[in-house]
Amino acid sequence: MSEPDLFSYNASPEKRIAELRELIRRHDELYYTQAQPEISDAEYDQLFRELEDLEKKHPDLADPNSPTQRVGSKPLDGFSQVSHPVPMLSIDDVFELKDAEVPEEELIAFYKRLQKNLARENIAVTMEPKIDGVAVSLYYENGTLKYAATRGDGTTGDDVTQNVRTIRNIPLNFIPENSPAILEVRGEIFMPNSAFAAMNEERDEQGLPTFANPRNATAGTLKQLDPKIVATRPLAFLAHGLGAYEGEPLKTETDFHDLLDSVSIPRNQPVRIANNLTELLEGIKFYSAHRHDLDHATDGVVIKVLDRAEREALGSTSRAPRWAAAYKFLPEQKETILNAISIQVGRTGVLTPVAELEPVLISGSTVSRATLHNQDEIGKKAIYIGAKVLVEKAGEIIPAIVKVIDPDPEKETYSLYDSVGGKCPSCEAPITQEEGFVAWRCTNFECPAQAVTAISHFSARKALDIDGLGETVAEALVRHSHATSPLDLFSLNEETLANLNLGTEESPRRLGEKNATKVIASLETARSKPLNKWLFAMGIRHLGESGAKELTRLIPRLSQIPNSEILAKIAEKGTKDTWVKKYPANPKNETITDEEKARRKAIATEYRAEIKQLSEELEQYSISPELGGVAAQNTLDYFKSEAGQHVLRRLSELGIEPHSDNYSPQPESSELPLTGKTFVITGTLSESRDHFKDLIEKNGGKVSGSVSKNTSYLLAGEYAGSKLDKATQLGVAILDEQGLAEFL
Ligand code: IVH
Repeated sequence: MSEPDLFSYNASPEKRIAELRELIRRHDELYYTQAQPEISDAEYDQLFRELEDLEKKHPDLADPNSPTQRVGSKPLDGFSQVSHPVPMLSIDDVFELKDAEVPEEELIAFYKRLQKNLARENIAVTMEPKIDGVAVSLYYENGTLKYAATRGDGTTGDDVTQNVRTIRNIPLNFIPENSPAILEVRGEIFMPNSAFAAMNEERDEQGLPTFANPRNATAGTLKQLDPKIVATRPLAFLAHGLGAYEGEPLKTETDFHDLLDSVSIPRNQPVRIANNLTELLEGIKFYSAHRHDLDHATDGVVIKVLDRAEREALGSTSRAPRWAAAYKFLPEQKETILNAISIQVGRTGVLTPVAELEPVLISGSTVSRATLHNQDEIGKKAIYIGAKVLVEKAGEIIPAIVKVIDPDPEKETYSLYDSVGGKCPSCEAPITQEEGFVAWRCTNFECPAQAVTAISHFSARKALDIDGLGETVAEALVRHSHATSPLDLFSLNEETLANLNLGTEESPRRLGEKNATKVIASLETARSKPLNKWLFAMGIRHLGESGAKELTRLIPRLSQIPNSEILAKIAEKGTKDTWVKKYPANPKNETITDEEKARRKAIATEYRAEIKQLSEELEQYSISPELGGVAAQNTLDYFKSEAGQHVLRRLSELGIEPHSDNYSPQPESSELPLTGKTFVITGTLSESRDHFKDLIEKNGGKVSGSVSKNTSYLLAGEYAGSKLDKATQLGVAILDEQGLAEFL
């Protein structure tokens, strides 16, 4: 510990706290802004923890701008509004033109306007990358961040201070000697490309939806009301402009940049100064050649007059200043050949088509693959294998196919389903497309491509709660081929688990005996966990925790599920219900032909009667809506599929027979006197209705709320009303208390 600065414990708490805050601020800057850390992560963490401890012990020394206070505690209900002291204008675009007669025509026109308005030949301008992010304003008063706001409509924006405070390269305060009384800095918040890619990969692994591009991810993150979520996203900020200001006069943009540097606010770079039109055009070539060197998305170059007095003279329109322009690059496109389409099975079972291209150089890197998203996209662009295609780097990261060039009308559009023969390329189980979704997916619980996700879900607390088996362990088990599906876990032994390498070959990390014992013990307990936990653990689409509970209440043994009549009825009713609701004969936001209208009407009429009948039949079970028709259908499909049958066989080989918590095989309920009989109770009886309900249920019968043709008996007391009428009408047998007693 050679640095006395870092670890001087003897100072007074007040002094040490101040010292630690300043040290951490400095190391944040070195790390996040200059990318030149001087201490290790561990040393940094130690400083941070020391500060946290001291602040806890001395609450009187708390400071909202302490580095420990970046993440606020509470989510907001909504954003309040901030009115910008100086409007946040936008910039006029000038475009790079393809095949133009005069290259850079629009840019030259912009420069000519400057020359005319300032009545001079050579006007010095700054050039800098245009960041593809979200514009924000940071308002500092005497060196302290007072608020941060989005652009909004340019006059008022959202107060996003809580969120912006979590961004580590934004100083919360800076040293007073340097601080202007008021400094409002404008800039962009964005996600570095590398951090974005890593975040998306992680989200995909966790089964969360991924973001389309860094800009969307940034905008979505800033709209979050909970700063804790924002703090987990890799946002960064770079300054590019000045709003309100009270301080030493700033003559040029260079003075402004020096000021930012002196207060350690990170700024947009590289900046070039062009003193005349020739240098400006050279500058464009420079940025165009280096546009992909930066670790964030840029879509052009911003050009601004260097001298601030000249800017004043040029002024602004209501929308944009006359002294600035945004030169927009054309997205780079290249022609190539689509050699093949391969299918990737994602960790949640989605089949994604990927274009295998004849390699081409685009935007400085070789592109040999492009995403095709899904069958819809392929259909829209009529893509076929062997086509000549135009490829573009969308959002400057993931290459995409723009279109087929000179399409051959003889060629048939590629079909994902046909190309895989309706089977998952990873496990050969049938693939399905859910109603309303474009994606094809494999729903096999034992699909190896989904092994890590499936095992992690299987082991989750809400599922079978296998202690010590999280994603890392699941990943290691799959990587070392110890498991390809959740049920393989039951074949693991303690030794294999203890020796499991969670790290890499170079730096191995064993799971260890203690953890191995924990896992094995939890697996043992899991064997006798109730059926609802097992059903949920199987990850059947749309069968959630409550749905699984309800299913278990209705069907107490796993082996009864595949042929369950109740389940089939729920599924049938659900399917019909959905159809009628989804395809109304008089839709609001859709125009349909008279023919289609008639078709829908006919189906709805037919279905309505069937739905009514099914509802009546199901009524006796009082099924909660937690178990919907889609879940019921998926469950049936699952257990009827080859993969599902295999799971059932393996479970029985393992001696596991999941059943409901209160299911007891003895005595067989068919031996009871009221088995299979449904009762409805009405009128005034000698005891409460609950008493009779209990009595009937104890004897194997069921009690329902309303009379239908499925009712076996109406238990009628005095003053029975409409139910008695209905029962008589339907010819349902009627019993009084005495009649029931005789029955039993
Ligand atoms: S200067 C008066 N510089 O682009 C506006 N803006 O399309 C001066 N932008 O609203 C803005 N990178 O949010 C400037 N280097 C840069 C920029 C930049 C991105 C954004 C900014 C602006 C929008 C206009």
